[in-house]
Amino acid sequence: MKEFDLSALVRENIKRLKPYSSARDEFEGAASVFLDANENPFGTGHNRYPDPHQRKLKEAIAKIKNVATNQVFLGNGSDEAIDLLFRVFCEPGRDSVIIPQPTYGMYGVSAGINNVEIITTTLTPTFDLQANDVLAAIKPGTKMIFLCSPNNPSGNQLSTSAIDTLLSQFSGLVVVDEAYIDFTSTPSWTTRLAEHKNLVVLQTLSKAWGLASLRLGMCFAHPEIIALLNKIKPPYNISGIAQREALAALQKNQSQKEKWVTLIKEQREKLKTNLRKAGCVKKIFPSDANFLLVEVSDAKIIYQQLVQRGVIVRDRSNVILCDNCLRITVGTEEENTKLIQVLTTL
Ligand SMILES: Cc1ncc(COP(=O)(O)O)c(C=O)c1O
Repeated sequence: MKEFDLSALVRENIKRLKPYSSARDEFEGAASVFLDANENPFGTGHNRYPDPHQRKLKEAIAKIKNVATNQVFLGNGSDEAIDLLFRVFCEPGRDSVIIPQPTYGMYGVSAGINNVEIITTTLTPTFDLQANDVLAAIKPGTKMIFLCSPNNPSGNQLSTSAIDTLLSQFSGLVVVDEAYIDFTSTPSWTTRLAEHKNLVVLQTLSKAWGLASLRLGMCFAHPEIIALLNKIKPPYNISGIAQREALAALQKNQSQKEKWVTLIKEQREKLKTNLRKAGCVKKIFPSDANFLLVEVSDAKIIYQQLVQRGVIVRDRSNVILCDNCLRITVGTEEENTKLIQVLTTL
């Protein structure tokens, strides 16, 4: 069993850093005259800086997700949270992270931007996680393991017991990206935060909630990890528009989101049935997400033919374990029907 020492994982410069203190940090109360932030006093509806701590939005999210507000960090998309995790924990040119492949590309891109070594392991041919492969790849400077469940691009959930093993045996952080959690009926890893101080869970409003354009990613972790992310984030990383719109959507659209999820899951099953009838489809991988990974006879040619007919899917054929695979997002009934019509005429 490992010892968990958060302080030993944090970069020394981040420990020493004196964070930026914004006008809204230095005076937080109500007042009649605000002359402290060099804003334009004439109203556009957007002339004042937003709450740098996104308090109202975090309270709403904490309630829905059943966590404490100090366990919530909000980023300009989950992509910002991923980048900030690298900047808090990984010393450029020295530390490493483990990224079992194939998975979402931004973990590797953020590692590259931050000059952090990427150690890759490979999921099984059915895209499952083998804890022993990951444990064997750990090096002295390995700070984080990035897992995505349900996994992009395969759509399956990773084995709970493998993630459990990593959480209890790795002395660094285990990041579980749950961007597609709303499409599953399994409990989120947020329910295990109290047990594992080294667990970081990412979620997003970009998928089931239908708010990709707002750029709102959520990170749930121990309050000390959240405090570190807050310490280095740009002061006003979530715009006022995003905070207001997201809060309104969370308050109004929860049952709408559930309806969308039900519809998307129904459409996913229908799409599967119809794809099986298309001659070019060789295999459809099981999915707990809002997309299907589909092996076809020749992914590059079929991708181009779909583009020519105005249907855009994602060619994943250059990705490990995904030879000749297309990743197809589940659309509306009309969109899916158009895709099937085109595919069956190829
Ligand atoms: C696994 C995964 N994580 C994160 C993201 C991006 O989320 P956001 O829009 O919050 O940056 C995606 C988007 O495709 C994704 O597939």
